[in-house]
Amino acid sequence: MTYIRHKLKRLDLNIAYACNIKCSGCISLSDFPRKGVATLEEVDSWLKYWHNYLDIDVIVLFGGEPLINPKLLDICKCIRKYYPASTIRLITNGYLLDNFDPKCWFEYEPFEIQVSIHRLDHESNINKKIKKIIETKKGWSTTVENLNQHQQIKFSLENFTIYKSKFKDFVAPYGFANNQPIPLSSDPKKAHSLCGSPNTPVLYKGKLYKCPPVANLIDLLDENWNNYKSCDSHEGLETFIKSVGCPESVCAQCPDNTNAIIFDHFDKGNVHVKEKNLS
Ligand SMILES: C[S@@+](CC[C@H](N)C(=O)[O-])C[C@H]1O[C@@H](n2cnc3c(N)ncnc32)[C@H](O)[C@@H]1O
Ligand code: SF4
Repeated sequence: MTYIRHKLKRLDLNIAYACNIKCSGCISLSDFPRKGVATLEEVDSWLKYWHNYLDIDVIVLFGGEPLINPKLLDICKCIRKYYPASTIRLITNGYLLDNFDPKCWFEYEPFEIQVSIHRLDHESNINKKIKKIIETKKGWSTTVENLNQHQQIKFSLENFTIYKSKFKDFVAPYGFANNQPIPLSSDPKKAHSLCGSPNTPVLYKGKLYKCPPVANLIDLLDENWNNYKSCDSHEGLETFIKSVGCPESVCAQCPDNTNAIIFDHFDKGNVHVKEKNLS
């Protein structure tokens, strides 16, 4: 049977709902009680279905914290089964990199690791873990990039790239009432024009959502959040694909330039890391 495959530049694949740290304003709501990871069987069944319909350039191992998923390497293998040529990108806070053989990632090239530095006082600790991966091979090139919202150092070796990224401000993708997220009522176009995830659909528990905040808010709080409907089969896929990267009514949940709640990520009080992560 021949299927119509839609092109996506990037799809985030949520493989961990929980995180080992808590960042205020996190787009995956790591500062609220989140539990669990996706199982290998679940990921396999999602990709078995969606690979018929989606042609994806970059598949992102996303969470929560993907390194807490005990089947992470099997999930990489599973992605390769359905997507032999796509780039796999692991986005991680880096604290648990030492739980893995530093050479293991090279088996899944083209592969990228984006390490987010969440605490400046822990940067040297995370640097050591990145160095262990780099030291397994010779010939890396290094560049420093100053992007819009953050600084990034890029280490490249053929089909393998490690990015070390630092973000200063986290804008919460919702409002607050009694310490609980509530949707704002912004102008969707204005909110989307300022959005930190304007173009990053996510496969979350087998369904496609516009962005990580929408998926996580619906899962944590309310399946009718802002009347958003996820895409759960190829029948709604064309409409979903057209909405990627565009403002739509759900974007009213996010701040525009008048009502943003901003957390300074360089303030230790906004990033909670348990001591056991620092070994
Ligand atoms: C949600 S985290 C998940 C992956 C992993 N736990 C990590 O920390 O990299 C993915 C990326 O989103 C960024 N992020 C989270 N909340 C954000 C926000 N409100 N504004 C901007 N970036 C945010 C993090 O810095 C990280 O680079
Ligand atoms: S709802 Fe819209 S504005 Fe908010 S994070 Fe998602 S894409 Fe961005």
